Amino acid sequence: MNIHSLELINFRNYEHKEWQFKPSIMVLYGPNGVGKSNLLESIYVSTIGKSYRTNETSDLIQFGKEAAGIVVNFEKKETNHKINLRLSGKEKKEIRLNSNRISQKELMGTLNTVIFSPEDLQLIKGSPSLRRRFIDIEISQTSAMYYQQLHMYNKILQQRNKVLKDSYGKANLNLEEWDQQLANTASFIVKKRLESLRKINLLLDLMNRRLTNGKENLRIIYEQSYGDQKLVVEAKDFYELLQQALPQDRRRMTTSIGPHRDDLKFFSDSMDLKRFGSQGQQRTAILSLKLSELEFIKSEVGEYPILLLDDVLSELDKERRQNLLKFIHRRIQTFITTTDLDDVATLTDVMIIQCGERGQHEES
Ligand SMILES: Nc1ncnc2c1ncn2[C@@H]1O[C@H](COP(=O)(O)OP(=O)(O)O)[C@@H](O)[C@H]1O
Ligand SMILES: [Mg+2]
Repeated sequence: MNIHSLELINFRNYEHKEWQFKPSIMVLYGPNGVGKSNLLESIYVSTIGKSYRTNETSDLIQFGKEAAGIVVNFEKKETNHKINLRLSGKEKKEIRLNSNRISQKELMGTLNTVIFSPEDLQLIKGSPSLRRRFIDIEISQTSAMYYQQLHMYNKILQQRNKVLKDSYGKANLNLEEWDQQLANTASFIVKKRLESLRKINLLLDLMNRRLTNGKENLRIIYEQSYGDQKLVVEAKDFYELLQQALPQDRRRMTTSIGPHRDDLKFFSDSMDLKRFGSQGQQRTAILSLKLSELEFIKSEVGEYPILLLDDVLSELDKERRQNLLKFIHRRIQTFITTTDLDDVATLTDVMIIQCGERGQHEES
């Protein structure tokens, strides 16, 4: 998968700009605040229809403008495609694939990317929602069905929670229909997460052994805070637990059972990395995870995704950085932002894109 060109119109700090890329390593270089991350963000938005930095579409539109445009020309499975997004502050997003109007759901998985940004370094230590988002986006990129079910689940969940709030203190409450639907979608989501985790775990261990010279066994374990020791997977079990938890859910006016409460735990051998891992171990684990994401998408889609590295090179020590660059070299079209060209000095086959006043120039 390769992006040939990108055009931005009123997107963040770009009024109108167009770039041509090569299928190698693109280094976006320039001082802070010139729009390097904005460029990466626009590519990411073309992948899933929204940003990883903000939930507000209007943040993406240049101050004082009505709408922003992103046009991406890319190649997937030897076919050229064009994604065209129009983001408006007031109206619905307009997304086109090769001139045909498509929905955000249909966009998902068209262009595949993996992003690695400093926020990802929080993945192990940070809140469970980060880990859920990670796994959800990963699977959604390779399964439209998953994305659809997830969307549905969140909608039902919201409605159920609203009913819980509205009926607070009242005697009668019939959640039968919500709970059946919720249990069914919950089961689908958890099954798919477990199936994907099995694949990711195989890759993760392989990558981690490479990075640590075969010393540590790294794996992710799926965790639920409800049910007994055994994972709740089947719809009928979810349904039953929802009924058991109802008095408590009514008191708290929120739903305590379901994949929106689940979490992932990282283990190195038998050590819980969140609680006991050193910062170095956590970083290696996250790097292994990112490399596994690339391989996971490749195995599901048949091609490596685009890799977006936002300011992470400077966060990795020399050895980890070299390991990463060795892995991507000549395999994966990669966009790297940096303020310091020394970070990429050892690389050949790069195209340097100067961000800021001086415009674009190339080196190889
Ligand atoms: N909606 C917007 N309209 C105009 N400029 C914006 C908007 N959002 C962010 N910016 C500008 O983008 C710049 C930051 O760009 P960014 O890509 O994060 O920089 P960096 O090159 O450091 O990665 C800031 O100068 C900020 O003012
Ligand atoms: Mg930046």
